[in-house]
Amino acid sequence: EMYVDELPRMAKVYGFSMRHGHPTPVRLTVGMYQKKWKFHRDLPATTVFAFGTSAGSATFPGPTIEAAQWVPLSVTWQNHLPARHILPWDPTVPTAVARRGGVPTVVHLHGGVHPSQFDGHANAWFTAGFRETGPTWTTPTYTYPNLQSPGVLWYHDHTLGLTRANLLAGLLGAYVIRNPAVEKPLGLPCGDEFDRVLMLADRSFYADGSIYMNYTGDNPNIHPQWQPEYFGEAITVNGKAWPFLAVVRRRYRFRIINTSNARYFNLSLTNGLPFHVVGSDTNYLSKPVTATHLLVSVAETFDVVVDFSESTTTEAELVNTAPYPYPDGDAPNNLNGKVMKFVVQPAKVRDDSMVPTKLLDYVNVAEEDAVQKRYIVMYEYDDAVSNLPTHLYINGKRLEDPATETPRPGTTEVWEVINLTPDNHPLHLHLASFQAVRIRRLVDQDAFQTCMTKLNDAVRCNVSAHAVGSPVAVPEHERSWKNVVKISPGHMTTIVVKFLMVETGKPYPFDAAGEPGYVYHCHILDHEDNAMIRPLKLIK
Ligand code: C2O
Ligand code: CU
Repeated sequence: EMYVDELPRMAKVYGFSMRHGHPTPVRLTVGMYQKKWKFHRDLPATTVFAFGTSAGSATFPGPTIEAAQWVPLSVTWQNHLPARHILPWDPTVPTAVARRGGVPTVVHLHGGVHPSQFDGHANAWFTAGFRETGPTWTTPTYTYPNLQSPGVLWYHDHTLGLTRANLLAGLLGAYVIRNPAVEKPLGLPCGDEFDRVLMLADRSFYADGSIYMNYTGDNPNIHPQWQPEYFGEAITVNGKAWPFLAVVRRRYRFRIINTSNARYFNLSLTNGLPFHVVGSDTNYLSKPVTATHLLVSVAETFDVVVDFSESTTTEAELVNTAPYPYPDGDAPNNLNGKVMKFVVQPAKVRDDSMVPTKLLDYVNVAEEDAVQKRYIVMYEYDDAVSNLPTHLYINGKRLEDPATETPRPGTTEVWEVINLTPDNHPLHLHLASFQAVRIRRLVDQDAFQTCMTKLNDAVRCNVSAHAVGSPVAVPEHERSWKNVVKISPGHMTTIVVKFLMVETGKPYPFDAAGEPGYVYHCHILDHEDNAMIRPLKLIK
């Protein structure tokens, strides 16, 4: 039965303490624990891997970490997981292997602007008690400078070859950076009641409550377990399947984060109320944009205001119409086409919040500032016998291959991202902020693809003669500094990438060119694990 569990509010953990009216730094310890979690009233409790400041308080998703802008936060991430994973593990994809047993994990703060040593590199994994560590591991404590603008980030596992299973098991949580001096004047809905994080995640379950993940791959001779996309039938929000939230007739701010492995959501409200989009990924838009539908890729975030005082109904379902895989897969059904329900209380209430006409300004896109143009080509590799996709690559290369994307800190680049697969891929860069400025359909894709499989060189394959099809507009609410951009199949998407602080236009206030460097990847986790991930190595 849907809408029987109330939407949980995740516990907050403060990444600062107030001293004489000023936020001052603190240190946190956050652990990963095996726990039981109730996803639904009628489903037996599920074994999950969950973040918490103690075993007793660990939740799915983990606690929301509240950080203050300008106040650095040190977090010691601890692994308290048992010897064996609760989900299947496929050794045929490039993956971390703990020789002495245990579940390798490493934590990445998604959207964080910080030195790469604290980035949670895929090879910086560790097992329980740091008994065993991966080749790029250096330190148990990560320090996040929090110098970037206020906004919503999230933390999640990033272990080589295990990210899809570790997130599916529950290793994810929200991280909000606030600055009241900057944000209060905007007048947006605020406080625990009216400013809520919504972490969406699709999961399937066995009748005994355990999480379902396929044990066999589509192509078991090559990958015994790995499948190209995990799709769950139940849609969970903040760890409950199809929850409800009772709302009063006023504005609410929702920070929507899609933490699914592979599912895109095309969200709308059944009573027709629009979303006033005020931010996306970690940044504010310069002014609010009203949209009735939000297409949210994996790992993308939208920060929106919904005004329930305008509701003409007493109930509004949040529904999903995105085909899976996106865009050419199955249409959502009665289960995965529903997300949650808002129950609108009848009485009018006082509301001092607003949707302002202006939000925050960041640097201009300034494509002409680019000092480098790069071609990023996404491929799917099909098995010759079964014709099933066996793995994916970026530019035909693996993570272990030498870095080819080696920008200089402080510069702007143009990346031409070409998608030769049938699916949309959410491209994510660590550290950098970027915007899609142009999308063009590829003409004669077959000829281009044939050339690319031979030469693997977009310029020599004359990409400029192929990327001349009809242009596609970037939706207005997606024209902001983002860290995830949806890359359409059969198109070339031009993104302007800034390797600097987009709030100020200034260089990073730390050495971004240190070891072990960053990564960029497709954020469909099953793709990232096999193996749409490449190094992003800044050099001086
Ligand atoms: Cu959300 Cu590389 O990650
Ligand atoms: Cu992908």
